[in-house]
Amino acid sequence: TRVGLIFGGNSSEYEVSIVSGHNIYNAIDKDKFDVYPIWLTKENYFASLEDSKKVWDNPSYTIKNPHKMANVSNFEQLANLPEIDVFFPIVHGNLGEDGVLQGLFRLLDKPFVGDDVLAAAVTMDKEMTKILAQRAGVPVADWISIKRYEFNDKNNEKLSYDYASEKLGSDLFVKPSNQGSSVGISHVTKASEYLPALEEAFKYDDKVLVEEAIHGTEVETAVLGNDDILVSGVGQIINASGSFYSYKNKYEDNSTTTLQIPAELPDEIVETVRSNAEKIYRATECSGMARIDSMLRASDHKVIFNELNALPGFTNISMYPKLFEEAGIKYPDLITRLIDLAIE
Ligand code: DAL
Ligand code: MG
Repeated sequence: TRVGLIFGGNSSEYEVSIVSGHNIYNAIDKDKFDVYPIWLTKENYFASLEDSKKVWDNPSYTIKNPHKMANVSNFEQLANLPEIDVFFPIVHGNLGEDGVLQGLFRLLDKPFVGDDVLAAAVTMDKEMTKILAQRAGVPVADWISIKRYEFNDKNNEKLSYDYASEKLGSDLFVKPSNQGSSVGISHVTKASEYLPALEEAFKYDDKVLVEEAIHGTEVETAVLGNDDILVSGVGQIINASGSFYSYKNKYEDNSTTTLQIPAELPDEIVETVRSNAEKIYRATECSGMARIDSMLRASDHKVIFNELNALPGFTNISMYPKLFEEAGIKYPDLITRLIDLAIE
């Protein structure tokens, strides 16, 4: 089976995706699969196989003068790659994880790993995901959403900290609705921090969520499957820095963060995390895989759903492969299963 492994993309998670792609390439069972690495550059250009491998050795490698109409001309080239049986997109974030790339595969009529268009689009949007989770009976943090047109109206009541804190309490998180890896997120506890936090979040999206802050530890679980699903155990992120699990804690300085797999938690909590994950996976119509992140609130040990990652990280610190490793599925076998699920 010939696998087109696509990584990169122009989202703020570009660097994370380069690492995820490289790890998958190294781990994939080479006896079963011929892998064609396809680097999607920041300009949305699908690079050649030779160029694609170069970026792994040198992350700052760039292609000189990619064709101006690269996205379009390249598109056809990709369609005509007769050797590709199945695509494995590990492009995190906007355009890669939100249904756009998935739509391209549908146009090309090629199978692909992970969620289909609808699930990818819905789960990239934190508000839509929360609405579906709530409908499935899973607790979420209270929130309000602010659209760009509301943000542009300086008299809109939602731009006042008093309004937000009356609805949600004085301790808030402000985040872009469509983003991954905690980019653009701020913790707000006083009026003077509120507008700057909104401004920061609006750099990344046209819709921003303001949520009641949930303090506790992050708990994550992984799901694998289409109709029959396998839910992994639960991992816990113990963060000694006192901050939330930020981009910096994740990928730049993870010295204050410990991943505890399996989480040392009472069975009852573990089962709640797992059964919530299953409900959300079904409610959002996911297929293939997802990693579901929740908070375990310190004050009352309530499990509160946070977000779903349709194309979770496959970096060295990423939970998805680690959770299945703990469940007895080795990294190369996990990749095999994901590809089998795409073509079954
Ligand atoms: N969005 C990143 C890649 C993750 O959650 O793993
Ligand atoms: Mg997360």
